[in-house]
Amino acid sequence: MIAAPEISVAAPPPPALRDDVAEIANQPIAPPESSPAEAYSRKNPFPGRLLVNRRLNSPDSEKDTRHFEISLEGSGIAYEVGDSMAVYPTNDPALVAEIVAALGATGDEEILSPRGGAATLREGLLRDFAITQPTPKFLKAIAQRANAAPLLNELMAPDRKHELATYVFGLEVVDFLLEHPSITWTPQEFVALLPKLQPRLYSIASSLRMHPEAVHFIIDVVRYRSHGRVRKGVCSTFLAERCADSPAPIFPTVSKFRLPEDGDAPIIMVGPGTGVAPFRAFLQERQATGARGRNWLFFGAQRVQSDYFYKEDFDQFSADGILTRIDTAFSRDQAHKIYVQDRMVESSGEIWKWLEEGAHFYVCGDAKRMAKDVDAALRQIVQQGGGKDAEQANEYVEKLKGEKRYKRDVY
Ligand SMILES: Cc1cc2nc3c(=O)[nH]c(=O)nc-3n(C[C@H](O)[C@H](O)[C@H](O)COP(=O)(O)OP(=O)(O)OC[C@H]3O[C@@H](n4cnc5c(N)ncnc54)[C@H](O)[C@@H]3O)c2cc1C
Ligand SMILES: NC(=O)c1ccc[n+]([C@@H]2O[C@H](COP(=O)([O-])OP(=O)(O)OC[C@H]3O[C@@H](n4cnc5c(N)ncnc54)[C@H](OP(=O)(O)O)[C@@H]3O)[C@@H](O)[C@H]2O)c1
Repeated sequence: MIAAPEISVAAPPPPALRDDVAEIANQPIAPPESSPAEAYSRKNPFPGRLLVNRRLNSPDSEKDTRHFEISLEGSGIAYEVGDSMAVYPTNDPALVAEIVAALGATGDEEILSPRGGAATLREGLLRDFAITQPTPKFLKAIAQRANAAPLLNELMAPDRKHELATYVFGLEVVDFLLEHPSITWTPQEFVALLPKLQPRLYSIASSLRMHPEAVHFIIDVVRYRSHGRVRKGVCSTFLAERCADSPAPIFPTVSKFRLPEDGDAPIIMVGPGTGVAPFRAFLQERQATGARGRNWLFFGAQRVQSDYFYKEDFDQFSADGILTRIDTAFSRDQAHKIYVQDRMVESSGEIWKWLEEGAHFYVCGDAKRMAKDVDAALRQIVQQGGGKDAEQANEYVEKLKGEKRYKRDVY
């Protein structure tokens, strides 16, 4: 059983700069001059070795959220906290084998690789093409082939986009191949319908000053059942299941999601679930640099017992005087949902005070609902705390954005 979180509202002691941390803080983070870091990019990712792949939830959790560490040794890769790293996955070999079989191919057939030159069908499906989500181009080709799919044909009409999306939801490319075995494709015809496999971005969860040799990530492993099959997110399961013996190709991407330049400025961080990733990095960075600004974290997860990840880290940050305050929202520990924005509203007055004292406000995680709801809560807090009407509160929030004191990293 993980103990209930401590909530401290007392004024923090000034952050202690531990000896080992002070040593790290004094180290330069720029890569050495001979570094090949410049060379590591989308076209030439660094083959990182996966050092740590640890599930963060207890076995009874509904989630599979993992802590990954990828070695940067010899890469010279540099980044700032708030940046993301792109990971180039390869597809699941079992799914590739199933698609090859459904095409009636052997896998050894030659195709044109989007990287240039020739590849075997098997190699192309593993490395080069997105083979899970059906694209409009693919659906159109299925619908056109010998009227093999009358319903799909009807749903391709421009005024039935919504119905098409509902029909396709949860279906993958392989389902259409299995559903329509009478359609024949040459391997080249088939791959020409697939988009290129894209790298996925992950918020960096560590500071280079604290962890110069490895980059950390917090990743929700995407697995779900649809139409009677288990589906796997390409990149999250690549890291979780298929990277033990082969490199994880990575390259850094620069973001505007930055800590304030002024180390004395207070920050409020709202990061439920994997959204906590950049904030772990922010806290490490503030500790490593001896920044004296106050730090307040809102963290949310399903259940305290199974999903309160990094509690030990947060306890240590609190003990070290880095984490001024942490408020948690465990949504499924009671009959009604409690979310981070509910915790924010409970502390309206204090948040308003921090904002008036120059706090920067950060949100990371789910874009679809959470970030919108947190935004609404922030506006409500400004109304309540500042005695403003809705329009004035909106102006206040827009001003925060203009001053680069309200930043979001949402996906
Ligand atoms: C800037 C940025 C930072 C990010 N940081 C992080 C991070 O720190 N941690 C993190 O975990 N992710 C992060 N992401 C998301 C990450 O990039 C990937 O999108 C995510 O890991 C899923 O990729 P995947 O390849 O595993 O899944 P994909 O193969 O891309 O599959 C995901 C798709 O599967 C489908 N799907 C998923 N669930 C269901 C379902 N139940 N029913 C039907 N269809 C479904 C949806 O179409 C969904 O888009 C970030 C994204 C961005 C843009
Ligand atoms: N683009 C992608 O491929 C991708 C990758 C990773 C995650 N995501 C999305 O990001 C979201 C977060 O995923 P995660 O695994 O990091 O966290 P998570 O564990 O799914 O969610 C973290 C916490 O946020 C809560 N929550 C749900 N809706 C909320 C809302 N409107 N406002 C505030 N909190 C809310 C959850 O509660 P309940 O679950 O109990 O409602 C849970 O307690 C998910 O919706 C997921 O689909 C997308």
